Amino acid sequence: MRAVIASEPGGPEVLTVTDLPDPEAGDGEVVIDVTATAVNRADTMQRQGKYPPPPGASEVLGLECSGTISAVGRGVEGWSVGDEACALLAGGGYAERVAVPTAQLMPVPKGVDLVTAGALPEVACTVWSNVFMVAGLQEDETLLVHGGAGGIGTLAIQLAKALGARVLTTAGSQEKLDLCRSLGADEAISYRDQDFVEEVKQATDGHGADVILDNMGAKYLDRNLSALATQGRLVIIGMQGGVKGELNIGKLLAKRGAVIATSLRARPVDEKAAICAGVVEHVWPLVTDGSVRTLVHATLPLAEAAEAHRIMESGDHVGKIILTA
Ligand SMILES: NC(=O)c1ccc[n+]([C@@H]2O[C@H](COP(=O)([O-])OP(=O)(O)OC[C@H]3O[C@@H](n4cnc5c(N)ncnc54)[C@H](OP(=O)(O)O)[C@@H]3O)[C@@H](O)[C@H]2O)c1
Repeated sequence: MRAVIASEPGGPEVLTVTDLPDPEAGDGEVVIDVTATAVNRADTMQRQGKYPPPPGASEVLGLECSGTISAVGRGVEGWSVGDEACALLAGGGYAERVAVPTAQLMPVPKGVDLVTAGALPEVACTVWSNVFMVAGLQEDETLLVHGGAGGIGTLAIQLAKALGARVLTTAGSQEKLDLCRSLGADEAISYRDQDFVEEVKQATDGHGADVILDNMGAKYLDRNLSALATQGRLVIIGMQGGVKGELNIGKLLAKRGAVIATSLRARPVDEKAAICAGVVEHVWPLVTDGSVRTLVHATLPLAEAAEAHRIMESGDHVGKIILTA
């Protein structure tokens, strides 16, 4: 099969299409003939040599895919050759075929085409697991989503709104701020021209954000604490602003707050299974009824993975960048 690997750590140019042996379905696994995968920030970090795959995972890039099941391993129940599915992967999505435990398979939501479905698993699982399973966002609470126009942000805004929360978000340009509002954000704050701490306080009459979904890490740690409500939960999922920050424990303690950081990729299969099941139960119905949709910025063939990475790293995109196998 054709697959994309990083031949050495470096820029997008190190992404190489190569021939690899077809994967086989192990016990409890299926092989998917990939229709589409999508680019994630983690792929760009893996390409740079900063985010190696977890032990046992494929060297081939790609954390999600959609496609058609072409082989079924021993002990698999409920899935058959010819079924369409999408999947959360520990790696291996930038390829014509990938083996995946059935626990990480999800049906394609009704009304979504198979190509677009390749861009859903990673964002849906990340947002559902962090904002709802970990941080427990409630209907009457306020969520602050940093980077509302990105792949994660666009889905987080829509999902939190659909489930009844108030949503504040940050973005870097007027066009992206407008997009966030059109997706349902109650307030869209320019991270370039405005002080998000002040804006959050004003928008919540001084209460603060009950949950913050953060992509920036160190750079925003202290300001996120300032923007957090009493008993607020700050969930850090990205390190775009660095990995080492100073935590003011006094500020956190006074707010009886929580700072949590998670990574989806390295979690054991049973945790991923619970997340995928939650997504199918709670998120897919909202995708099917149109309350939550995937925003696709560009769709490129797998052979143009390098260009797809350039687009993501330019920061000009909104929503997801899809690669078709
Ligand atoms: N831990 C996990 O399990 C997990 C899983 C998936 C993703 N992630 C992380 O989630 C983050 C978002 O992923 P993605 O796929 O949505 O990437 P993406 O589409 O490239 O989005 C990146 C976002 O970062 C925003 N941004 C850049 N500088 C910012 C700043 N100073 N303040 C606030 N926002 C800023 C961008 O906003 P503008 O476009 O408006 O400039 C953009 O919305 C990444 O850091 C990724 O690594 C983590």
